[in-house]
Amino acid sequence: MIVLRDIYYCKHCGNVVEILNEGAPALVCCGDPMTLLEEKTQDAATEKHVPYVEEAPGGVLVKVGKETAHPMEEKHYIKFIEVLTESKVCRAELKPGMKPEAFFPVQKADIVKAREWCNVHGLWKS
Ligand SMILES: [Fe+2]
Repeated sequence: MIVLRDIYYCKHCGNVVEILNEGAPALVCCGDPMTLLEEKTQDAATEKHVPYVEEAPGGVLVKVGKETAHPMEEKHYIKFIEVLTESKVCRAELKPGMKPEAFFPVQKADIVKAREWCNVHGLWKS
């Protein structure tokens, strides 16, 4: 069963989709079922992936890598950072060379979860 806000990946063409309307039985792309991107939370690698949310004037700043920033190179970078509340999905789309962080005008107390997608290591949440 498709769940609102879940993210799916096509292993053939690289398509990535986020669910905006739940209830459909399955997603298919390139003739095969799409793969649910699992939201990982534990990071044992030296480069960190779990989003770190800190309060900032007027909202929150979400960083990928608390002490050490995640790489933002052509072949390995954070594609997006999202903040989810009960009624909103806020997404910042990043590119190589940018800082792996994003500001959102959202109260920290309203955040249900923050997540980010690394093009090499997948989806992570906090
Ligand atoms: Fe990574």
